[in-house]
Amino acid sequence: MKDFKAKISEHKKQFKRALARVKDEKSLQELRNLYLSRKRGHLRVLIEDMKALKPQERPMGGKMINSLKTLVQEKLESLKAEFSADEPVLSKFDLTLPGRREYRGSPHPIVLFRQEVEDIFLAMGFSIEDGPEIETDYYNFEALNFPPHHPARDDWDTLYITDDLLLRTHTSPVQIRVMEKRKPPIRIIIPGKVYRRETPDPTHLPMFCQVEGLVVDQDITFAHLKGTLEHFLKTLFYEKIKIRFRPSFFPFTEPSAEVDIECTVCEGENKECRVCKGSGWIEILGAGMVNPQVFKNVNIDPEKYSGFAFGLGIDRTAMFAYQIPDMRFFYENDLRFIRQFIQK
Ligand code: PHE
Repeated sequence: MKDFKAKISEHKKQFKRALARVKDEKSLQELRNLYLSRKRGHLRVLIEDMKALKPQERPMGGKMINSLKTLVQEKLESLKAEFSADEPVLSKFDLTLPGRREYRGSPHPIVLFRQEVEDIFLAMGFSIEDGPEIETDYYNFEALNFPPHHPARDDWDTLYITDDLLLRTHTSPVQIRVMEKRKPPIRIIIPGKVYRRETPDPTHLPMFCQVEGLVVDQDITFAHLKGTLEHFLKTLFYEKIKIRFRPSFFPFTEPSAEVDIECTVCEGENKECRVCKGSGWIEILGAGMVNPQVFKNVNIDPEKYSGFAFGLGIDRTAMFAYQIPDMRFFYENDLRFIRQFIQK
């Protein structure tokens, strides 16, 4: 009886080990046969072996065989159920359904254009700086040489938050913030959003984007300004584009200029052109040599250093580059418009 009991428990151990190795239907069937086959299965053999037991031991032996049989059957059944749950994976999908399109995000067209501008300046050795959109009167105006109440302020229709806080009207205040912290040589661009009290129309928005440029070093001249901007505009548009500098006024540059490019729509050929209003030129930049007073405001010696600065309207320039008749299209976020700029 002892031997018989040991044999049963050995079978249980073996069975559990074998069960752990079952990977598929086929090995499951093999294991079933090994134990339950009517001809030579282990259980069959055990029943034969019972003959060697004493008659009064047989009921006990029968119980032991049954407990082994139940174990084997239950384990095999539940494993089989696991397999058949996994099996019809493909049938869970209807392969005849049309595919569902996944929409991926993409940078906004203005961001893409800004990156193009940035890349040209990065290649010329400029680095990128950043500043706050909520500014103080000091950085937006005073340090840039606009005295309080000076009429030049009227050119920047300002959204004031308090008497002293405002939404910056240009990226020029970041010139001051950088020069307060760093000594020349300085060669930076400052892309960012700016705000003005404007009623939206095809060429005006209350929020738009600019890229400011600032170079400060010894012996910087107007020729550097011209060369840098010419290279930039020829790279951004095309090599043969006509560029002109017109004298202008900004309190923070002296001398100052406004920069025009030839009209990319009519190339000066159409007296009725809606983009250049028949003039053949479109204004895209303000620029000039840094006013010595601005250097004094940030403790840079104007006798030792000189520099130039410029400010470019990104949305305006993108409008001409892509020949878009209305700047508001950029911000209405009509996907039929936006999707035309998605980079594949
Ligand atoms: N900040 C000026 C503007 O918003 C542009 C500018 C920048 C002009 C730098 C000169 C130098 O119109």
